Amino acid sequence: MAGQTTWLLLAAASLLWLLPWTSAVDRSDFPASFLFGTATSSYQIEGAYLEDNKSLSNWDVFTHVPGRIKDGSTGDIADDHYHRYEGDVELMHSLGINAYRFSISWARILPKGRFGKVNPSGIDFYNKLIDLLLLKGIQPFVTLTHYDITQELEDRYGAWLSAEIQYDFGYFADVCFAAFGDRVKYWATFNEPNAAVRKGYMVGTYPPGRCSQPFGSCASGDSDAEPYVATHNIVLSHATAVEIYKRKYQSKQKGLIGIVMYTTWYEPLTDAPEDRLATERALTFDVPCCRFLDPIVYGDYPPEMRQLLGSRLPSFSPEDRRKLRYKLDFIGVNHYTTLYTKDCMFSSDCPLGQETQHELVAVTGERNGLPIGPPTAMPTFYVVPDGIEKMVTYIMKRYNNLPMFITENGYAQGGDNYARVDDWLDDKGRIDYLDGYLTKVAKVIRDGADVRGYFVWSLVDNFEWLFGYTLRFGLHYVDYETQERKPKLSAQWYKGFLQSMPEAQ
Ligand code: NOJ
Repeated sequence: MAGQTTWLLLAAASLLWLLPWTSAVDRSDFPASFLFGTATSSYQIEGAYLEDNKSLSNWDVFTHVPGRIKDGSTGDIADDHYHRYEGDVELMHSLGINAYRFSISWARILPKGRFGKVNPSGIDFYNKLIDLLLLKGIQPFVTLTHYDITQELEDRYGAWLSAEIQYDFGYFADVCFAAFGDRVKYWATFNEPNAAVRKGYMVGTYPPGRCSQPFGSCASGDSDAEPYVATHNIVLSHATAVEIYKRKYQSKQKGLIGIVMYTTWYEPLTDAPEDRLATERALTFDVPCCRFLDPIVYGDYPPEMRQLLGSRLPSFSPEDRRKLRYKLDFIGVNHYTTLYTKDCMFSSDCPLGQETQHELVAVTGERNGLPIGPPTAMPTFYVVPDGIEKMVTYIMKRYNNLPMFITENGYAQGGDNYARVDDWLDDKGRIDYLDGYLTKVAKVIRDGADVRGYFVWSLVDNFEWLFGYTLRFGLHYVDYETQERKPKLSAQWYKGFLQSMPEAQ
């Protein structure tokens, strides 16, 4: 009831503001079958971290070490979505979305990986969520692992550093396809493995917190080698899951399977040819895609990586190449921002320890003291809508226009200007951001890109990794004391944008 009143009040209050608001884009700019959704992930919203036989995940263990997370928080409760999923599906329904991207907690399904039993309560939870979504006309778009894995696998054999992880990931994927694949038509194997590997094994700020100097001061690790070993095992784990899906399930279940990458568009800091080359290197080497997508789509790492890394980059055996031939059905594109790139091959004036050091590139958000676009509360995320058009075009060309989904795009609020709840609800900055980026997505589709869906990050405010609860990405505000959700102006806006939407396909 309280929720309904809030909606009415907000609708009335925002109408005045929305009336003069004009946009270059509307729902009819996208195909009728286009998926419009919101995205979340298990660790960031579920909570219930030790309930119903779930075991500890790597993030449970990591956040419980003091000093790791900005506000000292954890995802123990997060949005309590595990107990409140019905209300959250209702929020989605009132937005009018036809798809919802969420991830499965590995530790809830397989508390001991393949060394123990499947947890029936975990299966039951996702079954209930999937059934309810479908009842409301919302397609589940499921990520198998969004940074979180069963800690047991880390403890037993070092998780992504061991080739053994392929068997565990394949087993987990098989269990999920068998349990949910009759209803799930969109599967992503990994969320942003490129970001997870850099943070986990190069700078050590995400679990397992491994690195070496000058990238960071970790108890152990080797920033020069481990990121590439982990990359290799993730690529092969992806291939293992895709092979299982394609051989055992796809012809019956008729779904698609892909992978989701973290993508940043880059612009050269200056017109100098060195900076232009540095931009090319940065794009190829990792951040948009190619360290993972080239092996998956073309069977090997980009040649530039081999040149710069030599034997630090593992090789694919004939058996690996056999697995890799199953490739993928779509590319998931998480896109938030654009940054400048500066050459470090010929210039010695570069900071040490940046995540792009191996490609001999430095990255910055400013040129001559001016930001590349309006800043957001997330350091390094600026508002540059052109970037999504350029990024999608780059991926389209490099991968022969494979189907794409914009699996995440969103805007962070945070900082000192948010004294009252109303300050969070009044998120015109987010509306401008979404409007600007959606306009460019519509354009790139008109220009021929096979983009099939768009997901706002996020449905609700949630646990933002190292920033804890200090940053808010939600279309709905969450009061973490009471767990009450309140729609922000952007929720009203997204709902308005989607109103002309035809029935879900
Ligand atoms: C990408 C990640 O997939 C998601 O977990 C995170 O919350 C958003 N970016 C915002 O930083």
